[in-house]
Order: sequence, then C-alpha cells, then structure tokens
Amino acid sequence: MRVERLKLNDFRNYEALDWKPRPGLNVIVGENAQGKTNAVEAIFFCAFGRSHRTPRDAELIRHGMAGGYVGLMLQSQAGARQIEMKLRAGERKQVFIDRLQAQRSGELMGVLNVVMFSPEDLALVKGAPAERRRFIDMELSQLRPKYYYRLQQYNAALKQRNALLRGAPGQEQGAMRAQLYAWDEQLAAAGADVMRMREEFVDMLSTIARDLHRSISGGREQLALSYAPSVDVARYGGDMRAALEEALYASALEDMRRGFTGVGPHRDDLSVRLGDAPVRVFGSQGQQRTAALSLKLSELALLARETGEPPVLLLDDVLSELDEPRQRALLEAMRGCQCFLTCTSLAGLIRAGMQDIPAYACKGGRLEAYSG
Ligand SMILES: Nc1ncnc2c1ncn2[C@@H]1O[C@H](COP(=O)(O)OP(=O)(O)O)[C@@H](O)[C@H]1O
Ligand SMILES: [Mg+2]
Repeated sequence: MRVERLKLNDFRNYEALDWKPRPGLNVIVGENAQGKTNAVEAIFFCAFGRSHRTPRDAELIRHGMAGGYVGLMLQSQAGARQIEMKLRAGERKQVFIDRLQAQRSGELMGVLNVVMFSPEDLALVKGAPAERRRFIDMELSQLRPKYYYRLQQYNAALKQRNALLRGAPGQEQGAMRAQLYAWDEQLAAAGADVMRMREEFVDMLSTIARDLHRSISGGREQLALSYAPSVDVARYGGDMRAALEEALYASALEDMRRGFTGVGPHRDDLSVRLGDAPVRVFGSQGQQRTAALSLKLSELALLARETGEPPVLLLDDVLSELDEPRQRALLEAMRGCQCFLTCTSLAGLIRAGMQDIPAYACKGGRLEAYSG
C-alpha cells in the first residue's frame, strides 16, 4: 500500500501542499515546530478518521481559517483509491472515499492501513492499560473493520449504562437493577465479540512478537504476550458472553455505589512478559522500550501478512530515541514498506549508511527537496 499524493489546504500550519511522496522511504527533516508531525498526522487522519494527537478536529484547521482539507490518493491491491477529509469549524467533518461521502468514519477502516510509531509509543509497555487497549483497538480496527463497529456498539451501551448508574442517587434500587439488566444483555453481546476478536488478535501477534523480540534482543530474551480480560473467562469454560454477563450481574450493586461500570472489555489489558515477569513492573527502561518496539514491528508484520500487503509506516521522530541495534531492527522492518520518517537531523540515518536517501526539508508548513 502506498500514498501517491497528499494535498493539504489549511491543515495545521500548511496553507497549501501538493506532494507526491516516493514509493519507498520519505525522510522529512526539519527543526522543531516546522510541520513534520503535522504531515504524518494528515496521513494518519485519513487512515483512522481521527488525529493521533487530538480528539478535536477543529484543532486541525489552520488558525484563523473557516475550514481545512486533506486529500490523499493511494495505490493498493484494491487499485487506486482516494480519501478526502473536509473540515469546517463548528461542523462535523465530512469523509469521502473514492468521491462518495461516507456515512460513518468506520468506513475508512482498512482503506489505508498505517502503522504509526512515535516516541510516546515507547511507553506503550510501561504505561496504563488504556494505552495498550488503544493499541489493540486501532490495529484490530484496520484488520477487521467489523471490530470497529462492535467496539462502538459496546461503548455506546456502556455509556448508557454508566449514565443510568450516575443518575442513581435516590432512585429505588430494585427499579434500577431491572434497568441495568436490560443494558447488561446488550453489553455482554457486543462485549463478548470484542473480547473474542481481541484474544484472536493477541494470539496472532504473540507468535510474531516472540520471534522478532528474540532477534532484536540478540537471542537473550523471551517475550510473551497474552490477552488479559477483565473477567474470569476460564471459570465459564471460555464462554466470554456468559462470563461477562455474570460479571456485570455480580458487580451491579458495587457499580450503583460507585456510579460507573467496573468490569468489562473497557478494563482489559494486554499482558507483556519477559519469561514470566511482567515487563511493566520488572523490566528495565531499555527492556520496556525494546518490548514496545517489538510490539509495533509485530503489528506491522501481522497487518502485512493478514491483508496481503505491507501497510504504510509512519515513524515520527523515533529514530533518535533508539540505540543502534534497535535502529537497525527498525530500518530492517521498513524494507518493502512505504515509510514516512521524520527527524531533526540526518545524522542517525547517515550513521546507518543511508546517506544517499533523498530527503525533504520541512520548514514553516512547506516541504521541499532537501539540499544539505
Ligand atoms: N491549527 C493550526 N494552525 C496553524 N498552525 C498550527 C496549527 N496547529 C499547530 N500549528 C503549528 O504547527 C507547528 C507544529 O508542527 P509540528 O508538525 O508538530 O512540528 P514538528 O516539525 O516539530 O513535528 C507549530 O508551529 C504550531 O504552532
Ligand atoms: Mg514533531
């Protein structure tokens, strides 16, 4: 899969850009605050229908402007495709796929597959469970668009259940419980699908991650990933729906007291261990970062395998954060992918023997051929 053309109008600090990136590696070099991340953000935006930096689309419109535009042409095994995002201040964005307006952002899933790797991702393993859930959700949505819809349905039902719980004080307990149970059924149905797909995804990822990590760590470390659902599925013989429904039922009183739903896929985690030890707790910073890199690279390999073509790789400012063996692993994994790599200096790439790669200079919302 590759981006053939990117057009920006009044997007972030780009007034107007019309760029035809190269099929292989695109290095974007520039000082801070020039628009490097903004450029990869625009590509990410077309892939997921949202920015990786903000939930508020209005922030993407160039300051002082009433609207903004991102247009992207791509080439994939499905042929040439086009994604357009039209932003208007105070209105919902409009999404067009191959010139037809999409009714939901979910329709974007799988059209342009990207894997983004930025310095924040290095904390993927160390951070809170929410970050690992986000990682799973994003990747799985690209891989299985159905997942995205199921997750949306789950979240919508969860929101309703929580609203009910929050409105609780004073309400008669019996009446409330009856209403809760009505939501529990929906929640369990959608939630169990979410859980099943997460488990399958983590299983596939774990095999790839184990091999990759062994190679990055020079054969020294054994990385193990597993899905860590928030409910005890084993007790129900693997029946996720029954486990979830039962857990919701059992936590109803507690939920009423605290005013939100305490169990369910929104509390799941991805367990990352070296040998038997959770990396989050026992790993050194270096081990945590290597594990995060392995996760990201596995995701890339898995997407390539499952979709039959390599996704587009976005590497934002991440190379200088890695030591040389890890840089090598990353550069190795990039082969065969179209890649957008941002950096503030070419020193790292030159050290890696890539001095001949043509680069683009990014300055004040412009991209130009780099000339030293
Ligand atoms: N909506 C916007 N309109 C105009 N400029 C913006 C907007 N959002 C961010 N910027 C500007 O973009 C620059 C940051 O761009 P960014 O791509 O994050 O930089 P970097 O090159 O360091 O990755 C800052 O100068 C910021 O003021
Ligand atoms: Mg940046």
